[in-house]
Amino acid sequence: MSPKQQPGRIDAGNVSRSFDSHARTYDKLVGANPGYHEHLRLSAKRMGLPGGGAGLRLLDLGCGTGASTAALLDAAPHAQITAVDASAEMLAQATRKSWPSSVRFVHGNAEELDPAKFAGPYDGILAAYLLRNLTDRNAALRRFRGLLKPGAPLAVHEYSVRDSARSRAVWTAVCWGVIIPMGRLRTGSADLYRYLWRSVLDFDGVEAFTGRMTAVGFEDVRVQTMPGWQQHIVHTFLGRSPGVPPGTDPEAPTPPEGLDLTK
Ligand SMILES: C[S@@+](CC[C@H](N)C(=O)[O-])C[C@H]1O[C@@H](n2cnc3c(N)ncnc32)[C@H](O)[C@@H]1O
Repeated sequence: MSPKQQPGRIDAGNVSRSFDSHARTYDKLVGANPGYHEHLRLSAKRMGLPGGGAGLRLLDLGCGTGASTAALLDAAPHAQITAVDASAEMLAQATRKSWPSSVRFVHGNAEELDPAKFAGPYDGILAAYLLRNLTDRNAALRRFRGLLKPGAPLAVHEYSVRDSARSRAVWTAVCWGVIIPMGRLRTGSADLYRYLWRSVLDFDGVEAFTGRMTAVGFEDVRVQTMPGWQQHIVHTFLGRSPGVPPGTDPEAPTPPEGLDLTK
């Protein structure tokens, strides 16, 4: 047990078990969060996947109840999508929904993807609200990079408030004013929502996370934020695996939506 871990406390490493017990109420809670689905769709769109995804193989890591999978499907309706989650109960909620046969859900730990089940290379990876929950972020990012074709995008959709006092204050106000009380009311327990608040405050700032992506070998690393109260709180971190995909223009600009905080 690491010095920070305490019995009964949610941490990266045991968080998926907590998602198991909150799976049935998850969709209702995120549905009450204005912009949740729209922002996932924006991140998936920012991946710039060509041709509606025709002929592409995509991964949705930490797919939960399928909200990010639906966003990926919206951006790339013709792609083959593999959606992965470590929580069997979250996956059970996802599979209850109606999906085309091009989408499959697989139980697995994104930090230890079994090559027999998840053989790459993939044309793109979306990881929405996952990175914060991983125990070894650098190792995971390196693995994700290794699963991608040359030049293929990784989109990390994640909260990041560390670099801005205003963002930290808004985040804390929204959590303690809305998310934690609503979570307690709807589920009878606020533990996962207190973890959400704390884990976001502890997570990398925008600069640290973009630096981390670059350090593990992603190229063309950029960050864009969201509209709404989530502005400068939720971000799309984009990077590409090294190399240029065959038949593409290496000078092609990336999609312009959102604010580019790196400029
Ligand atoms: C906040 S939910 C996000 C779900 C979905 N991506 C969305 O945007 O609605 C985070 C999900 O990550 C999953 N998760 C956490 N750690 C994981 C891991 N190591 N491997 C796979 N899934 C993990 C949890 O079980 C949970 O379903």
